[in-house]
Amino acid sequence: MAPDAAAGLRNVSLVGQNKTAIVVGGTLGIGAGVARLLARLGCSRIIIVGRNETRGKAVLEVLKELAPKESRIVVEFIKGDLSDSKGMREVASSLQKAAGDAGIDYLIMSQNGTPAGLNTKYNADGHDTAFAVQAISRFALAYLLTTSGGLVPNAIVMSIANQGQSLDDLSVDDLSLKTRLAKGPSATGIFINQSQRDSTVLDSAFEELNLRYPQYQYFSLWPGLVKTEEFNFSITPGYIKVIMWLGLKIIGTTPDQYANFPVYILASPDAQRTLGSGKYFDRVLNPTPLGKWSRDPKNRQALWEKLKEIIGEQ
Ligand SMILES: NC(=O)c1ccc[n+]([C@@H]2O[C@H](COP(=O)([O-])OP(=O)(O)OC[C@H]3O[C@@H](n4cnc5c(N)ncnc54)[C@H](OP(=O)(O)O)[C@@H]3O)[C@@H](O)[C@H]2O)c1
Repeated sequence: MAPDAAAGLRNVSLVGQNKTAIVVGGTLGIGAGVARLLARLGCSRIIIVGRNETRGKAVLEVLKELAPKESRIVVEFIKGDLSDSKGMREVASSLQKAAGDAGIDYLIMSQNGTPAGLNTKYNADGHDTAFAVQAISRFALAYLLTTSGGLVPNAIVMSIANQGQSLDDLSVDDLSLKTRLAKGPSATGIFINQSQRDSTVLDSAFEELNLRYPQYQYFSLWPGLVKTEEFNFSITPGYIKVIMWLGLKIIGTTPDQYANFPVYILASPDAQRTLGSGKYFDRVLNPTPLGKWSRDPKNRQALWEKLKEIIGEQ
C-alpha cells in the first residue's frame, strides 16, 4: 500500500545531515515545491537550476525564509538552458563545480519539456526540443554527474516527469518521431505518441542507470496533475484538454502538496521499508511497472548507446 507521505515526513529533519540537493527546474512549479519542502526540513544546501534568473533568485529568498535557523542553509541559482546537448554539458559541469568535494546527495530533475505535438521545434542537435528537455537532459545530467564522480555514495537521482507509458514501435534512430510527423498525424495522436516516447526513453534510461550503477538509486516518478503557476491545459490538443481539466478537479494537487511524495523518498528513514526496492512510482507512490519496450534489454542497450552519442559521449 502507498505510504502517507505527508504524515511520514512529520517528524523528519535534515538539520545537521549536511545534504546537498540540486533541483533542476526549481524556479517554478513542482521543482520549486520540492525545493521549498527540502528547505523547510532543514536541507543545508540547495542549488536550483533554470533559465529565468529573476524567478530563480526569488525562489532562493523564499528558501532562506522557510529554512529553520539551525540548518544554516546555503542556496545558489545556476542559470542554464537544457534544450540542447551543449547546454546540458554546461549545466552538468557547473553543477559538478558548484557541488565541489561535498558532492551531490539529491539530484532532482523537474525541468518541463511537455510534448509540443504538431508544433514540434528542433534544437541545434536536430532533435525535438521538448523531448531534449524532458528526456535527453535527464539522461545527460544523471549520466554525466554519475560518471564524473559528482554524486556522494548512496546518492539519489530522481526524475519527475512521465513514467510507465510505452511507445511499443519506438526506433532509436528516430527518437524525435520525424517519420511520424512527416505522415501528417492528428494533433492528439502525435501528442500521445510523444508523451509515450518520453516515458519509454526515461524508463529505459533510468532502468539502465539502476542496473549499471547500483551504488546509487535512480527514481522515476509521474506526478499526476499538479496545478502549477503556469499550468495551461489549453496547449494540449483535442480531448486531452478535457481529460486534464477533469483530472485536475479530481486528483489535482498543488506543488507544495505533491512535493511530499518525492521528498518522502529522499528524506524519510522509512522510505526503504515502506516502498521496497522499486524505483518507479505513480503520483501517490504506488509502484509502477516498466512499459513493454523498456522491459527489453536489447532496446535499452541500443537506446543507451544512442543517448550517449547524442550528448557527445562516444
Ligand atoms: N504539472 C503537472 O500536472 C504535470 C503532469 C505530468 C507531468 N509533469 C511533468 O513534471 C515536470 C515538472 O512540471 P511542472 O508542471 O512543474 O513544470 P513548470 O511549472 O513549467 O516548471 C518547469 C521548470 O522547468 C524549467 N525549464 C523549462 N525549460 C527549461 C530549459 N530549457 N532549461 C532549463 N530549465 C528549464 C523552468 O525554469 P525556467 O523557466 O527558469 O527555465 C521551470 O523551473 C515536467 O517534466 C512536466 O512535463 C507535470
